[in-house]
Amino acid sequence: MYAIIRFFLFLLPAEMAHNFSLSALNFVAGNALGGFLLDWLHPTVPADAAVVAGLRFENRVGVAAGLDKNARYYAALWRLGFGFVEIGTVTPMPQMGNAQPRLFRLRADGAIINRMGFNNEGVDVAAARLRNRPKGLIIGGNIGKNKDTPNDRALRDYEICFERLFDVVDYFTVNVSSPNTPNLRELQEKDALEGILVGLQAINQSKPKPKPIFLKIAPDLNDEQLNDVVYLVQKTQIAGVVATNTTVARAGLRTTAARVAQMGAGGLSGLPLSGRSTEVVAFLRKNLPQTYAIIGVGGIFSAQDAAQKIDAGADLVQLYTGFVYKGSPLVQNIKKMLRTQKV
Ligand code: FNR
Repeated sequence: MYAIIRFFLFLLPAEMAHNFSLSALNFVAGNALGGFLLDWLHPTVPADAAVVAGLRFENRVGVAAGLDKNARYYAALWRLGFGFVEIGTVTPMPQMGNAQPRLFRLRADGAIINRMGFNNEGVDVAAARLRNRPKGLIIGGNIGKNKDTPNDRALRDYEICFERLFDVVDYFTVNVSSPNTPNLRELQEKDALEGILVGLQAINQSKPKPKPIFLKIAPDLNDEQLNDVVYLVQKTQIAGVVATNTTVARAGLRTTAARVAQMGAGGLSGLPLSGRSTEVVAFLRKNLPQTYAIIGVGGIFSAQDAAQKIDAGADLVQLYTGFVYKGSPLVQNIKKMLRTQKV
């Protein structure tokens, strides 16, 4: 059935299809009759719960950041069977993001290029929407900085988002790896990153019940940079790493070079990212003690892809592009696989 829905959705420009499909899902899941029909037509499969970073996840399949930037859709996504939703990236002040078009499908590659640029309604709007979140659903708060904030004042932006979301999320993800905010990824550099993680941990540890903090990294880091990440995660005692964000690489695509060039700058996600993000997960698992958690994300289009991430050392997985291309049956397939194969 998703193939039919997708046929019509893919006739629309990508960003319009995104907004339309999520609004439609919210509408259906948000009223009694629609919810009943949704559950009837689309029963979610049972799954084993998992405890990761001290949190109990109903299942190990989550929504990656960027899909629910403003915490509008998390309840409906939960109803589709996801175990957790990472909202955001949110920034302190609302911002428009880059000019449209800024989201492109590469159908021949099972991929997306986006340069959204942290379009969001601001952290306070997201925090207000999260006040009524359902019990049982784990919510991650993915936090970033406003485009106009210079890097040497970035910590303050992360602190503001951290404080405003603290009571309404279960874990945090510090996003320093989006390619679409100018110079953001320079914050992955050792000293800058240490400043941010130390600053956030200072606030976190002053709370009666600190929350797990994850760091989200780019797949484009080299081994030396990954070693810096491994070192800093342990030094600052954060909970773990989300690996990975989108890539700026464009190698090996089936879509013609001219068409890709026409789409322009942005982060590439989906199948072409799968191998590299799994490699990063494996690198982290090899070098980080088991007590640190890894969330594997990048190009998961099948239960086998999810199994690869978990075999490489991921404790949890997240989907974005695979969900766009395959719909919620992908979530059910992964959950079935996790249950039967016990990976
Ligand atoms: C993203 N991603 C993303 N990540 C993040 O940390 N903050 C964000 O705001 C966004 N926004 C965003 C928008 C769009 C349109 C896409 C496709 C992706 C990255 C996403 O969470 C994920 O890390 C990558 O897309 C890789 O996973 P997939 O898409 O290959 O499953």
